Amino acid sequence: MKNSIRVFKSQSELASKLAEEVVRRIVASATVERPFAVALSGGSTPGLLYSLLGDEFSNAVPWEFVHLFWGDERCVPPDHPDSNYLIVKKHIIEKTGIPPVNVHRIKGEEDPSFEAMRYSAEITSILHDRDRLPVFDLVLLGLGEDGHTASIFPDRMDLLNSGRICEVAVHPVSGQKRLSLTGKVINNAEAVVFLVSGIKKAEVVKSILSQEDGASRYPAFHIRPVYGSLDWYLDEEVGWMRSVQPK
Ligand code: 6PG
Repeated sequence: MKNSIRVFKSQSELASKLAEEVVRRIVASATVERPFAVALSGGSTPGLLYSLLGDEFSNAVPWEFVHLFWGDERCVPPDHPDSNYLIVKKHIIEKTGIPPVNVHRIKGEEDPSFEAMRYSAEITSILHDRDRLPVFDLVLLGLGEDGHTASIFPDRMDLLNSGRICEVAVHPVSGQKRLSLTGKVINNAEAVVFLVSGIKKAEVVKSILSQEDGASRYPAFHIRPVYGSLDWYLDEEVGWMRSVQPK
């Protein structure tokens, strides 16, 4: 597993450099025979990245050869302010003209257990597989202060080794139901990128990247692509411990 850490002076530089990298990867590999399949992160951090992809970088991307999926979704309607789909709709889908058939929304308004099965089947129908698991070209992930990623929370470490592609989860504080890709699917990707900013996450990031004692309690610690690359895109508030090097 190739592992890299990149630290940027600001969130805007972080988003810009990551947008460049995402476009580079898409252009390098997306074809009509093999469209580029990306699972997008939820949360607020990637908003600037998505805005750049839908504006400054939009013309550089062959959107007809890109398939958008989500790493997780809140169990809310697509027009709900909590919806991870809504932010992508605003910044990318409405601006780029990406073909609707290339947008694979998790239907947060549906029964969660049923939607977990439906979304899993949709992923399986689009992506090729390896080790009997679907292969995403890129999985973008955020990181919670409790070390969660996607919607794999510390109280559901079993989702890291689930045999299912997508599972129902519950936010441990809000009780909000979620749908999330599972750990094995994420670790089967060709590339996983964590996008993390803000001082509140500095300790968790340091703990994970330094593999400190106790870091294994964080779900994100267990995101280690079997075949693919793992890159951390951090702003200075998070990555100020520049001495931190992945082991
Ligand atoms: C979600 C995300 C979740 C998120 C982290 C960080 O649906 O909320 O998938 O894993 O990436 O909680 O969220 P922020 O970017 O809002 O800090």
